[in-house]
Amino acid sequence: MTNSSNSGSVGWESPSNIALIKYWGKKENQLPCNPSISMSLQNSFSRTKLTYQAKGKENLLSFLFEGKKQKQFELRIANLFENLSDHFNFLKEFQITISSENTFPHSAGIASSASAMSSLALCLCSMEEEVKGIKMSKAEFHKKASIIARLGSGSASRSIYGDFVAWGKSKSLSNSSDEYAIPISQTTHPVFQDFQDTILLVSSKKKEVSSSVGHQLMNNHPYASSRFAQANTNFDRMIAVLQSGNLDEFIEIMENEALSLHALMMNSTPSYTLLKPNTLELIERIKSFRSSTKIPIGFTLDAGPNIHLLYPKSENEKIIPFINSELTSFLEKGKYILDKRGKGPQKLKI
Ligand code: DP6
Repeated sequence: MTNSSNSGSVGWESPSNIALIKYWGKKENQLPCNPSISMSLQNSFSRTKLTYQAKGKENLLSFLFEGKKQKQFELRIANLFENLSDHFNFLKEFQITISSENTFPHSAGIASSASAMSSLALCLCSMEEEVKGIKMSKAEFHKKASIIARLGSGSASRSIYGDFVAWGKSKSLSNSSDEYAIPISQTTHPVFQDFQDTILLVSSKKKEVSSSVGHQLMNNHPYASSRFAQANTNFDRMIAVLQSGNLDEFIEIMENEALSLHALMMNSTPSYTLLKPNTLELIERIKSFRSSTKIPIGFTLDAGPNIHLLYPKSENEKIIPFINSELTSFLEKGKYILDKRGKGPQKLKI
């Protein structure tokens, strides 16, 4: 038991993640229609600080992004706080200021809601420990943070852990849950050590469809049930591949997931075509490079046109020259971002 506190500051850095098995479609309360798997990133993260003060007259919540007031995200957080009273009964008693920044550029094809919401969830759990004067066990703390992060944004539930992470109930993974994510790296094959994620920036324009609207497209989608069955099969296979280290199968499943996600968007009503001509050109080039060199390099996509290239670190010396000579002319301002498998959130010393 530590002393409870009326005011203070807490802070966390928490990463973005790239989904290998996609979460696409959700039920009430931010519960997913199928289990998903992601890899947490190392260099792309949000740094969030939360300052709290026992309430005077006003119940103030303020959110600053990179030093500036951000009304839209502030509203999203205010809505989230409304739904958190069961988890944090003390929230209404405090004035809270949140300031956040990202290490990656806007709309770079890197999910910012995952890092932003997971770092905020971790801050709220740390705040709870301070205001109540309690100390949760590490497992309890992370589980709670993952639940809170999920309520903010589904994919954020996975960013609470480093390395490879699973979220969503699956018969083949004991302890898995729709409510929170769990780490699954205990027995990951060494080939995935320092696994690279190089993000090819095709367009930095704002997303045409928000993920919340995107998930809704699955509600009456004619292929919904076969998609959820496919995701479950791919999930089981991916769990096995992360242990066996079979990179050919890893690539096959990852690419199938990425293209299925886009196929589902293309044939939903309304429909969205988020792949750009340059995305398709890049995919062709990556496939032909793979087949001529036998280098295990594969791609995945989020709900946008940018490509995540995943491959073992040992291939960097061949892949970076390939990107520079054959791919950069199809990228916005020739830009790409180097990232890799990351270790997960870090608490800030404030
Ligand atoms: C395509 O987690 O952003 O990136 O729960 O509505 O905030 P909300 O959605 P979000 O959806 C992510 C969709 C995806 C696939 C994935 O990350 O699994």
